[in-house]
Amino acid sequence: MIKFECDYSKFLNEAEFSERVRQTGHFVWLTQRSTKGGWVDWPINYNGEEFDRIKKAAEKIRSDSDYLVCIGVGGSYLGYRAVIEALGGERGRTKLVFTGNSFSARELEKALDQVKDADFSINVISKSGTTTETAIAFRFFRQRLIERYGIEEANKRIYVTTDKDSGLQGEIAQGHYESFAIPHNIGGRFSVLTPVGLLPMAVAGLDVDKLLEGAEKERESLIYTGGNATSYAVMRNVLLERGFNIEVLASFEPSFHHFMEWWKQLFGESEGKDGKGIFPTSVIYSTDLHSLGQYMQDGQRIVFETFIESEKTEAEQVVVPIAVSDADELNYLAGRKVDDIKHVVAEATRKAHVAGGVPVMRIVMPDISEYSIGALIYFFEMACALSAFTLGVNPFNQPGVEDYKIQMFRLLGKPGYN
Ligand code: PA5
Repeated sequence: MIKFECDYSKFLNEAEFSERVRQTGHFVWLTQRSTKGGWVDWPINYNGEEFDRIKKAAEKIRSDSDYLVCIGVGGSYLGYRAVIEALGGERGRTKLVFTGNSFSARELEKALDQVKDADFSINVISKSGTTTETAIAFRFFRQRLIERYGIEEANKRIYVTTDKDSGLQGEIAQGHYESFAIPHNIGGRFSVLTPVGLLPMAVAGLDVDKLLEGAEKERESLIYTGGNATSYAVMRNVLLERGFNIEVLASFEPSFHHFMEWWKQLFGESEGKDGKGIFPTSVIYSTDLHSLGQYMQDGQRIVFETFIESEKTEAEQVVVPIAVSDADELNYLAGRKVDDIKHVVAEATRKAHVAGGVPVMRIVMPDISEYSIGALIYFFEMACALSAFTLGVNPFNQPGVEDYKIQMFRLLGKPGYN
């Protein structure tokens, strides 16, 4: 179970806090019944037949491809990259290439170059099937695949993950590609545990059963009252009401970089609407203690900080060595695990920031494993929905994302956009 710690007593008394938790907990019901609330019961409702097909496809890709080119953006990209990197990267022969998430020709060339002399397959992932970044990259990579293997074999190396009503359905029919469904009632940023993320994560060698199991267990603890996710959602809104309108997610693990990108999308796209919302941003310590740390300690008091941590010490064997001369005066740390030092520095950072007037919260998972990351994803998804409903916005739409697209299509001369 994901733990949540916060000293709320500075902002609310116990009765006020309990009342807010009780009120916020009601939104679990609203979330579950929402037309885009399919993710709430997904860990117990997913399609077993499709799950087996995903595992079989992953096995094939792992046996015949050096690379799986994952083409997608936003909710069709960030989640699986986040999980794979947080868990230490790909295990086995097949590496992942992430593309279709920018308009950068340099990045596209780099990705094409990576697969130049290698065997590869493609997983194009798009709920709408019309996202321009993704569509352009798919065109490039499909052509490269055909040049390399001929049309028949190329078609066997293309896997499409999309919605039943998507613009990619025509392509699937034409190419007879193997396809997986993005459930109609689950929006992009809530879809990492669906086929969107399951195929790339299985190809990376992760234990996808354990990911879903972790999410399922977390669901059990949140499904009636929202549990710890409710407390987190309550405190975010209480702090916003007190003028703290920026949330900084902090981790001492550099491999969590993309997890934070996923979290920013989840909260930013779900809450930032109707002139409301907390601005989500992130830091990786200790790198950022030597840059943004100054602002955190001493800048405008509009920022609160949420630490994600794991209880268990990783890498038991990484210990500070003893030196005969002790010229660097580090022998006082000799014999200590580097990860233990990390935990101490995290505590010191929290103490310093609290003393500097920064409200600090802590989200703690038992360890960094598939099971715990599955639970953490579910925790944040539930907290995000509850927090957005508390704020009075719909967590599941993103009307603002469409505006730049209309301008872009006009400027690019897309037919019908003059
Ligand atoms: O959360 C969302 O809905 C968005 O971020 C989408 O995932 C993103 O825009 C990509 O869309 P699509 O999957 O349709 O290509």
